[in-house]
Amino acid sequence: MIFDVITIFPDLIFEYKNYGVTKEAFIKNIAQLNIYNLRDFTKEKHKKVDDRPYGGGSGMVMMVQPFYDAVKFIKEKEKQKVILLTPRGEKLNQDKLKYFSGLENIILLCGRYEGVDERVSKSVVDIEVSIGDYILSGGELPAMIIMDGILRLLPGVVHSEDSVKLESFEDDLLEFPQYTRPPEFMEFKVPEVLIGGNHKEIKKWREQKSFEITKKRRPDLFDKSL
Ligand code: ADE
Repeated sequence: MIFDVITIFPDLIFEYKNYGVTKEAFIKNIAQLNIYNLRDFTKEKHKKVDDRPYGGGSGMVMMVQPFYDAVKFIKEKEKQKVILLTPRGEKLNQDKLKYFSGLENIILLCGRYEGVDERVSKSVVDIEVSIGDYILSGGELPAMIIMDGILRLLPGVVHSEDSVKLESFEDDLLEFPQYTRPPEFMEFKVPEVLIGGNHKEIKKWREQKSFEITKKRRPDLFDKSL
């Protein structure tokens, strides 16, 4: 899996390579991360990548030319999907991550400021993706979130396939509560059934808790799971 990220803050993305299971994925060559500085592609003489919006209004808009040229520079194969991170995009969920994890290469465009010239979408973008109904200052954190979600689905990144399968959102259910040592902490005890070692009972308890928690916290998911 190859990630190509186009950003005005390459160092921010670069740091992401160095931590946790994702670090291992890059070391083991399960994935590759290429980072491109948008400013390297601008033809504007002061290296600007943004300008004032036509029609007026506050803030700046990121220009089409640097994004267009950066994507043209990177893109060779039709298989590459170009994703623009924007609060106007389709909302990210586990199904979308699974779909992305089956691709060979994605190019992530990180917007900043008040927005991105609409012609970026028109000319080079395949999918616009939002990570949720809130506004962030840019697409860098969303890009890292997408990469993180994809990486842990790639074979060999998370050690136990089961731990990926049993998690929240597989089957549209939230995960059951987990405990580790000690068996008692202040007045809080680990549920008896988990200590007993009866695997059938444990499985039943966990399923029941998953149902209860999903029904209470995410009735929308619960209805989907039925
Ligand atoms: N850029 C700013 N806010 C965003 C969001 N919620 N999702 C994706 N990209 C964004």
